[in-house]
Amino acid sequence: MSMDLKTKEYNDALDQILRARRSIRQFKPEAPPRQLIEEIIQAGLLAPYASEGGTVPLDRQFRVIPRESRIIGNLREIMRRRAITAYEGLSKQIEKNPALQQQAQFLVKRLKMIGEHGVPWVGTDPYYIVVAERKSMSVDKSLSHCMENMWLKATALGLGFHLITITGTMAEDKDFCDLLSITHGQYALDGCGVGYPSSTPTPVEHPQVANVTRWID
Ligand SMILES: Cc1cc2nc3c(=O)[nH]c(=O)nc-3n(C[C@H](O)[C@H](O)[C@H](O)COP(=O)(O)O)c2cc1C
Repeated sequence: MSMDLKTKEYNDALDQILRARRSIRQFKPEAPPRQLIEEIIQAGLLAPYASEGGTVPLDRQFRVIPRESRIIGNLREIMRRRAITAYEGLSKQIEKNPALQQQAQFLVKRLKMIGEHGVPWVGTDPYYIVVAERKSMSVDKSLSHCMENMWLKATALGLGFHLITITGTMAEDKDFCDLLSITHGQYALDGCGVGYPSSTPTPVEHPQVANVTRWID
């Protein structure tokens, strides 16, 4: 009986967290205490990882860069330069293969914007967290699980969280990796911004299970 009550309590709490998880991109100026950030990192460490049949140990590392960090200016400049290089490369590819234009237009616009104005959020969010995981066949999926765990934990703690996906492209950038003491070429990256939310996101309608599910008996 008590087990059932506990199960219901956990289940209700989990549902609430899953429903409350949103992308929060605007934060209050004050930074959450380090201890909460460490709890988020702990949640990331609990996420599944691509162990390749138990042959590969977990090598997942975290770099927390507060908005006031002494390296933030350098980091922003390295990311801006990277975006310019990526923009030029993509523009050349589109010249050769115009069919790409439609597909890549969002990315092209975004890279151009970052090249001109710098990467948004890095240096304005209270914390920028970079997650590095040793490369393996499924490392990107592994990182996504880690980010989701961190996101849910941040939500449970009443913190706002959003992904900063451009971080992934920085894995190939030696200056970026050196600045963060990540061995260049050996790790895949993902990133996020964290802080106290400054507003509540507009509620969204999610699809109904019955409308998107087919049972194949
Ligand atoms: C693979 C992936 C990459 C994303 N990259 C970013 C990003 O770089 N910056 C950002 O603010 N949100 C990013 N998002 C968040 C989505 O925009 C967001 O989850 C979606 O619009 C639904 O909104 P919600 O998170 O509030 O439910 C990403 C989401 C996914 C799944």
